[in-house]
Amino acid sequence: MIPKSFIQDLLNRLDIVDVIERYVPLKKAGTNFVACCPFHTEKSPSFTVSQSKQFYHCFGCGAHGTAIGFVMEHTGMGFVEAIEDLAKGIGLAVPQEASNITQVKVAPDLYDLMQSATRYYRDQLKVTPRAIEYLKKRGLSGEVAARFGIGYSPDDWQNLRAAVSNYQDASLVETGLVIEGEGGKRYDRFRDRIMFPIVNVKGQIIGFGGRVLDKGEPKYLNSPETTLFEKGHELYGLYQAQKAIRAQQRVIVVEGYMDVVALAQNGVEYAVATLGTATTPFHVQKLLRLCEQIVFCFDGDKPGQKAAWRALENALPQLQDGKRIGFLFLPEEHDPDTYIREYGRDAFEHEVENSLPLSGYLLRELTAQVDLKTQEGRSALLKNAQPLLTAITAPTTALLLRKEIAALAGVTQAELEALWSIKPVAAPPRGPSAPPKAKRAAPSGMRTLLRCLVMKPELARELPKDWQGEGAEGAAIHALVDWLNESADEISTAAMIQHFQDSMHKPVFESAQADVMQWGEDFDVAAEFADTLQGLRRAVIDAELDALNAKGGLSSLNKDEQARYLQLLQLCKK
Ligand code: UTP
Ligand code: MN
Repeated sequence: MIPKSFIQDLLNRLDIVDVIERYVPLKKAGTNFVACCPFHTEKSPSFTVSQSKQFYHCFGCGAHGTAIGFVMEHTGMGFVEAIEDLAKGIGLAVPQEASNITQVKVAPDLYDLMQSATRYYRDQLKVTPRAIEYLKKRGLSGEVAARFGIGYSPDDWQNLRAAVSNYQDASLVETGLVIEGEGGKRYDRFRDRIMFPIVNVKGQIIGFGGRVLDKGEPKYLNSPETTLFEKGHELYGLYQAQKAIRAQQRVIVVEGYMDVVALAQNGVEYAVATLGTATTPFHVQKLLRLCEQIVFCFDGDKPGQKAAWRALENALPQLQDGKRIGFLFLPEEHDPDTYIREYGRDAFEHEVENSLPLSGYLLRELTAQVDLKTQEGRSALLKNAQPLLTAITAPTTALLLRKEIAALAGVTQAELEALWSIKPVAAPPRGPSAPPKAKRAAPSGMRTLLRCLVMKPELARELPKDWQGEGAEGAAIHALVDWLNESADEISTAAMIQHFQDSMHKPVFESAQADVMQWGEDFDVAAEFADTLQGLRRAVIDAELDALNAKGGLSSLNKDEQARYLQLLQLCKK
């Protein structure tokens, strides 16, 4: 594996303008360079390269990245290959960290091994009437079972001896197929279970879910997280559903393996399942790239309701204006599998058509928690809504929801925005004529902070130790601080982009990076950063003051509260 420090070093020494010019002629435009985007068809140039920040962004198709990313995208080279190519171009040798070299080499074998296991489990299903009977009882045809590669692991300790050449090979433990007990004794993880292979979008088998046939604990046993399998990134059934999702421009997200399979059996082929984890921002991002609409359809019980709310929270930072997210709540005793088997495809799809839009679900839950007839209730509504709404970066969606919340709380939109220190959107300063002193220009404080940090990552070192970020931007800033604390080196914007390339924070970073493309070179980033930080601090104080005020003013406060009130008033003056 290539050491991280080398990647930073390489990015510092390269000039992205030179790199891109090898493939695409660039024209200077203001502080940046532009071209017609090589990644989509266009007549006027929206592909923009920042030489000072060393990244590119296409305002047309959203293509985004560093010099390394560009070479990968443009030539189809892999990560390592792109780095080697770029390093060679400027006469650098790529160092290797010994430990992981083998991993790169072993990886293809791990996939082969998973493939062999899948084949073995499928063959075993064919000769096990009890397992076939079970699947039949659950309404599955042989055709659908084959489509999902469903198999059966027999009730023995070392079944896989029959499937692999060497049961002692390290790869069996590495893939999670085999468990090594104390004293080095090995046995199969999956025994006497219906086997559901988990397949990534490339069609490679990366894990399994195994269900007991009768009663037994746990009902589902899953592969552990391995080098092949990261639960929060993968969705069960996505490989099989991809085509239908694109065609329908819709995906249904369910909780269980059997839900996906039963829906497919009944003609609803665009469903996927999370793998025993909450829906992550990664999941949402991945699905929104494929289609226009996500409908979450979890079980009708309590855990299902909770899963829906988690999905909502994690979807907020990923929302895009114009894309739809809906929630379908089934009757309490049902899950998608039992529902479609009882009522059929048309009834199910009718429910999907009529799913509750995300905004409706959000407002329903927020208002259910409080009594809007009282001032306390309305104040609580504002407080509860703030973190959720500020996590939304899609401008229209966020605006419309702020209007609705303001109306429900009996304040004006402007009052709500002042309370949450949301600044009116204005054009960022451009070119040399722009005033160097910061103008309040960003939609939210967190977002402004992140934009500043994209310009100057080291400013993150100035955040107070107990600083609390909010929303997706806040989370991204915390991740940045953690990373800065780990690395002693100066961090460039390009190194930062590269570092967060495969993280859940990628979309917020990308959006902030695109925003700063137009910031002039003389823009006083440090002053803007300090100003915004101060503004956020004030907002926290204001909110606390408001809460105390809502109790009916000083006279109705207890002694501690009165002291705090006066202290807050002092802090306000600073
Ligand atoms: P459910 O308990 O809702 O089961 O778990 P189900 O999907 O309805 O399964 P059937 O219909 O009884 O066969 C939903 C999902 O949660 C994960 C699995 O991914 C499952 O599909 N899960 C559940 C586990 O990982 N382990 C368990 O023990 C139970
Ligand atoms: Mn079920």
